[in-house]
Amino acid sequence: MSLNDSERRVLSGMRPSGRLHLGHYHGVLKNWVRLQHEYDCFFCIVDWHALTTEYADSGQLSQHVMDMAVDWLAAGVSPSSATLFVQSQVPEHAELHLLLSMICPLSWLERVPSYKEQQERHSGKDLSTYGFLGYPLLQAADILLYRAGQVPVGADQLPHIEFAREVARRFNHLYGSEPDFELKAEAAIGKLGKKVGKLYSNLRKAYQEQGDAEALETARALLKEQTSITLGDQERLYGYLEGGGKVILNEPQPILAEFSRVPGLDGQKMAKSSGNAIFLRDSDAELEEKLRRMPTDPARVHRDDPGEPQRCPVWSLHQLYSNDEQLHWVIEGCRSASIGCLDCKSALCSSLQTELTPLQQRAFDYEENPDLVRSILAEGAERARDEARNTLAEVRMAMGLNYR
Ligand code: TRP
Ligand code: SF4
Repeated sequence: MSLNDSERRVLSGMRPSGRLHLGHYHGVLKNWVRLQHEYDCFFCIVDWHALTTEYADSGQLSQHVMDMAVDWLAAGVSPSSATLFVQSQVPEHAELHLLLSMICPLSWLERVPSYKEQQERHSGKDLSTYGFLGYPLLQAADILLYRAGQVPVGADQLPHIEFAREVARRFNHLYGSEPDFELKAEAAIGKLGKKVGKLYSNLRKAYQEQGDAEALETARALLKEQTSITLGDQERLYGYLEGGGKVILNEPQPILAEFSRVPGLDGQKMAKSSGNAIFLRDSDAELEEKLRRMPTDPARVHRDDPGEPQRCPVWSLHQLYSNDEQLHWVIEGCRSASIGCLDCKSALCSSLQTELTPLQQRAFDYEENPDLVRSILAEGAERARDEARNTLAEVRMAMGLNYR
């Protein structure tokens, strides 16, 4: 793959924690389903990441991986549009993690904000392990291995993406400068052809001597169009523009998922650990029972006490699932006490079921056919490995691990 393709390459990962809930669906999966048609997407079930915190309790891990794969597929993540795979089935992630660990300063890991936070949050577990400290580097390896340009994540993950950028920069700085870099870069300019070569040199000069940022952009765009030079030369010329060495590992950009905070059964953010989640595969009976127990506006003690939807978590869910007519009916009915909370909840229940039923049907089909799911993941891992091997070959070479 050329560096140009990096801009179109998306990678994201999710820890296998079992069945997914509406928060995952609206916050992450719908976004992925959209991206898979526009980008070259790699979606990874990061089982090694799960082990960084769940190492003492890994008996359920493979079931969680299967459940997550089924939910992804049911939500519309499609193996014909995207590459779906399990991290541990692509052992190249481990090798890149190891190699990057040689150059990653300990202090960078210790100051990742989630390190102390998570240790405090999981205070019941001993997270003073090597693996847990290193997990942002494992995440960096996940991304850099595919030279992904774009990483869709939530805001909590931004420091990890920044960390991956720093690691890539340090790698390129250490290993991108060959002894005869300038000679090679000048030779590569020669291979661009007379006209393009001259244009490149002028743009580079304008950037380096006058700090002309537009010239830098133009020069990058120019390189992007060059199909006749080798990947190595292209990497040199990208680096040469800015005065550094080769760009071997690409610095990723985050794509922030649109804000979509899904309220849980108690009105707080939906999370499995908060016990307030509605799962994609909850049966009708489970759904009815969960809604039945949801708190409502405390002002509605009696059926004929009027209420205020703004104070009610049932309303928050209505806003996600019901149409305008139903929303109007809830507001009017609640404030005038012409509907009861039971009526209101049963309307919500039907709206939710309308959205979830087709998804559950697909989930059921995959669940019935685990071999199909396994083969989708195996094929995904093969595709991922092809990409990963290419990057690793270059990384090994750059680090001097060249025995041919
Ligand atoms: N650390 C991420 C999380 O906890 C999961 C993850 C692992 C990831 N590797 C990744 C996300 C690579 C994006 C890209 O949510
Ligand atoms: Fe909540 Fe609906 Fe009851 Fe109003 S009628 S308090 S919105 S459940």
